[in-house]
Amino acid sequence: MSRQLFVTTALPYANGKFHIGHIMEYIQADIWVRYQRMQGNAVDFCCADDTHGAPIMIAAEKAGQTPQQFVADIAAGRKQYLDGFHISFDNWSSTDSPENHALARQIYRDLRDNADGSLIETRTIEQFFDPEKNMFLPDRYIKGECPKCHAQDQYGDNCEVCGAVYAPTDLIKPFSALSGATPVLKNSEHFFFKLSDPRCVEFLQEWTQGNDESGKPRLQPEVANKVKEWFSVRTNPDGSTSEGLGDWDISRDAPYFGIEIPDAPGKYFYVWLDAPIGYLASLKDLLVNKRGQSYDAYMANPALEQYHFIGKDIVTFHTLFWPATLKFSGRKTPNNVFVHGFLTVNNGEKMSKSRGTGLDPLKYLKLGMNAEWLRYYLAAKLSARNEDIDFNADDFMLRVNSDLIGKYVNIASRAAGFLTKRFDGKLTHQFGVSGSALLHEIREAAPALAQMYETREFGKATREIMALADKVNAYVDQNKPWDLAKDTANNEALHQVCSVLINTFAVLTRYLAPILPSLAAAVEKFVGISMQQWTVAGDVAAIQPYQHLMQRVIPEQLDALFEPKEPPALAESTQSAPKARAKKVTPATPVDPNAPGGEALAPTISIDDFAKIDLRIAKIVNCEAVEGSTKLLRLTLDVGEKDEAGQPKTRNVFSGIASMYQPAQLVGQLTVMVANLAPRKMKFGMSEGMVLAASHGDEAANPGIYILNPWPGATPGMRIH
Ligand code: 2FM
Ligand code: ZN
Repeated sequence: MSRQLFVTTALPYANGKFHIGHIMEYIQADIWVRYQRMQGNAVDFCCADDTHGAPIMIAAEKAGQTPQQFVADIAAGRKQYLDGFHISFDNWSSTDSPENHALARQIYRDLRDNADGSLIETRTIEQFFDPEKNMFLPDRYIKGECPKCHAQDQYGDNCEVCGAVYAPTDLIKPFSALSGATPVLKNSEHFFFKLSDPRCVEFLQEWTQGNDESGKPRLQPEVANKVKEWFSVRTNPDGSTSEGLGDWDISRDAPYFGIEIPDAPGKYFYVWLDAPIGYLASLKDLLVNKRGQSYDAYMANPALEQYHFIGKDIVTFHTLFWPATLKFSGRKTPNNVFVHGFLTVNNGEKMSKSRGTGLDPLKYLKLGMNAEWLRYYLAAKLSARNEDIDFNADDFMLRVNSDLIGKYVNIASRAAGFLTKRFDGKLTHQFGVSGSALLHEIREAAPALAQMYETREFGKATREIMALADKVNAYVDQNKPWDLAKDTANNEALHQVCSVLINTFAVLTRYLAPILPSLAAAVEKFVGISMQQWTVAGDVAAIQPYQHLMQRVIPEQLDALFEPKEPPALAESTQSAPKARAKKVTPATPVDPNAPGGEALAPTISIDDFAKIDLRIAKIVNCEAVEGSTKLLRLTLDVGEKDEAGQPKTRNVFSGIASMYQPAQLVGQLTVMVANLAPRKMKFGMSEGMVLAASHGDEAANPGIYILNPWPGATPGMRIH
């Protein structure tokens, strides 16, 4: 029976770029969602920008923008990250959408008008007010001297020096962080959600400490234990403690960027009231505006399952306020919230000069690093627990290069060449006794692996899949296809072994597909059977010629990633044009209209000087446009090199020839490269060499850049003397 799932990640504040913590959460949720889709379940995976609140209003003002313009600019930057890391959201909306305004107001009315007694009450509270800005000040915008340790410049809610918790009114010599003015105390009517109401307490006790619909404890044990404490004792703003759940202040006074409370002019919902409602609003936007479906009918489905992926810092909102808001407004409550820990980088070291600790996700992509390396690495570290995980650069390189590529990707590259060259790409369905047993064992792992994905034990799943890959590699070592290939008398055995390998590879790829969606799509083309379903009946019948599936991580990429500053913007330099590249490091060669090609000959060099330059014939095995660059093409070059497993190894080279050639024109062509040039970091990735190209010294008058093309007979790897 296929399930209907509504899945979200936490809505990021629309006041900054994504950081690696956001991307980790999206990757975790995306793996789970993709796994569910592979099981044939219907999933709607939604997110949105969390746009309201004082910090965003103040940041917009500083930027000289309206809050709407400010959040629209932030929203416009989201796509490059989501596409870059293959996050398959079905919808991305905003909490400032008409759907969210309407839903938040309706939910509030339903809480207020609850037939068994209103869950909303008003109280007058005394708050600091900035007489210059004419606004009530959120705690974070009041500063002053700590009443305990007398440290200066401390926030209104707690002291960062001694850790004391207090009310803003306790601060000595308070001042407004916005205007510097001395705030005055002023009364204001606030709206409260009565979380202390016995109906709420009873419901939340059950929801947080009880079982889910399948009869298992709903919350992760460590989360349930933490929540349990809040039912017995809570800390008040002044640092004192009280019994049980406190009521929740859900209103803020104008000026505030938010949603106006019905029948209360000048009063707005506190951002945390309307933010989670944004989950539903994003879903509604998807169903109604984008698909023309009924939101009410969708939500009325009793079998609908609703899950929220969140970080451990926002558990209170999602395990108390949010389920209670839904329950007492007469709506479906979430089936669960899945809490993850934080991501630290390189053991959480502080910024070091040599290797900073910040892992900027956009820089990662711009360096041309493969998003699936990160997806795999994070998957390998993630579990169902909400513990912190650390990104360690050396561990990252090891897991990608030796596990993912060494154990898994190499299975395909070891078998494909023989099948293509010797058997026209056709596979046999005769696998022999040991081959059949191996394939059977790998297929049999499907239910156990499914259970690991279902329970978000992704680390366990990757370990299990790598253990299966080890078994396949042991089979390779026992059967030695490279030895079999030496004598055509072994053709049948060679065919069998290689066919077993490709079939095991196809099954392992499906197991990894939730983590590596792009690689799985490439494998689908390679083996001709679906990688979109968790299990597929039937074997691979034939393969397409093998294309390199994944490059290895090189240390220079990690060095560049953790360099404290952006690498110089070399990307737009025409690296293939020696003249243009030279311009970067030496004074520009002057244009000389009388000299050949518009520039004077370079000073004479000895034959020994020339011998230092290792020029080789290179085959362009792949060529792609470079997103974000109009000048560069990314070339994958075969210079006849091999990796440790004896398999062909290629190089990545950027070349400033996009104005002259379409990528498709170049694929399959031979050219000439400098093979011993030190790798260079470019904005879009590492360039591991340089292809030679000719251009005129006076580029403006004689535009054009032409790559070299050897005569027939030259083959990749030949040296040019
Ligand atoms: O902590 C945050 O970044 C919030 N913007 C998360 C909101 S999640 C949901 F409630 F909207
Ligand atoms: Zn203090």
